[in-house]
Amino acid sequence: MNKTLQKYRKKSGTSTKTDSFVHSLNVYRMAKTQVFTTVASLQNHLSEVAKKSTVGFVPTMGALHSGHVSLVKASSKQCDFTVVSIFVNPTQFNNSSDLEKYPRDFDKDISLLEASGGAIVFAPTVDEMYPEGHQPKRMELGRVANIMEGEFRPGHFDGVVEVVYRFLEIVNPTHTYFGEKDLQQLSIVRHMVKEFNLPVEVVGCETHRLEGGLAASSRNERLTKDQKEKALILYQSLDRVRAEKESYGPREAREKIKEWFQDSELELEYIEFVDATTFEDVTEWTVHTHGCIAAFAGQVRLLDNISMV
Ligand code: PAF
Repeated sequence: MNKTLQKYRKKSGTSTKTDSFVHSLNVYRMAKTQVFTTVASLQNHLSEVAKKSTVGFVPTMGALHSGHVSLVKASSKQCDFTVVSIFVNPTQFNNSSDLEKYPRDFDKDISLLEASGGAIVFAPTVDEMYPEGHQPKRMELGRVANIMEGEFRPGHFDGVVEVVYRFLEIVNPTHTYFGEKDLQQLSIVRHMVKEFNLPVEVVGCETHRLEGGLAASSRNERLTKDQKEKALILYQSLDRVRAEKESYGPREAREKIKEWFQDSELELEYIEFVDATTFEDVTEWTVHTHGCIAAFAGQVRLLDNISMV
């Protein structure tokens, strides 16, 4: 069993803090939003309402924001029904304090979905997702899982594959929506769907940005107003390189960004320019080049990437 999951289960009995909102309710109904907490109740509902329909699936870890809403809207536009999962997946955290501090506000999530047109929500407990005897789905992920996010968060992508595979198995959607902000995750999910020949279309959606360019993220909730302003350096440094890229190549751009961060209050974790199709480093700008960056604002780890075209 994944170590973070084991530790978390031990600490909180069989359930986790994620489960606390679930109480004993099985279905939580608002005008346009229904919440299911068990696989059986969700599947039963889908088999009644969504027969022969297109079903869009938006996986989330809750703490929903405008970025999630844009995924839900993309799904609602394309599909007859939209299922949104709200589940803080312990198996993709390599750091238990990060897992504990992950923002959670279930009622706010439901209100936001309701205000955005509603959805079918699946909010399982950890035990519902990973019952006794559950065998995590594993696959060889290669280079994409060992660099950047994979290097700094060992095991993270194994946990993502495990949970996304399990969700796709439960929900059986025709389409699934992922943000391009998590570029490596999107690439891995596409690879997994191909590898296991899953009958679902993976739709990548543009990163939703707030004023100044900060990428919408659940982790922004943990930033102070001042940190939010200082965090603009992630997007703005990439954007500046993109504007100046005729003057220097990717290697020099990395050094420049490192220098700009030295003058800021954020701690740069990595800055890489990679080919978004192979995840190899690039030494020259190409149409596939993406600048990928991760940095800490205090304790909060932030992530971004942009196409350099
Ligand atoms: O991107 C996320 O929020 C998570 O990695 C996902 C896809 C919901 C899986 O837990």
